[in-house]
Amino acid sequence: MVNVEICIGSACYVKGSSQVVNDLKDLLKQHSWEDKVALRGSFCMKACQEKKGLGIRINGKKIDGVTAANAREILEKEIAVALL
Ligand code: FES
Repeated sequence: MVNVEICIGSACYVKGSSQVVNDLKDLLKQHSWEDKVALRGSFCMKACQEKKGLGIRINGKKIDGVTAANAREILEKEIAVALL
C-alpha cells in the first residue's frame, strides 16, 4: 500500500491543495489504484515555510516542488515508482 499525505493546512489550501486531492482521486480511478493507494490529509508539514510547494508526502518522503498545476504529473510518476 502506498501512503499519500496531502497537507490541508491553510497555506496549502490557499495554493490549491483541495484541487490536488480531487485530481489525485481522479488519477487513482483512472489507473485503478484505489485499492493500492491510501490518501490522507495532514497538518502543516512546513513545506510552506520552506517555499517548496505544497506539502505532500509519499510513504513518508516529502515531494518538493508540487503545485496545483503540476501535481497530477508529478504524483502520477511518484506513485507509479512507489508501486513497483
Ligand atoms: S500549510 Fe501545508 S505545508 Fe504548511
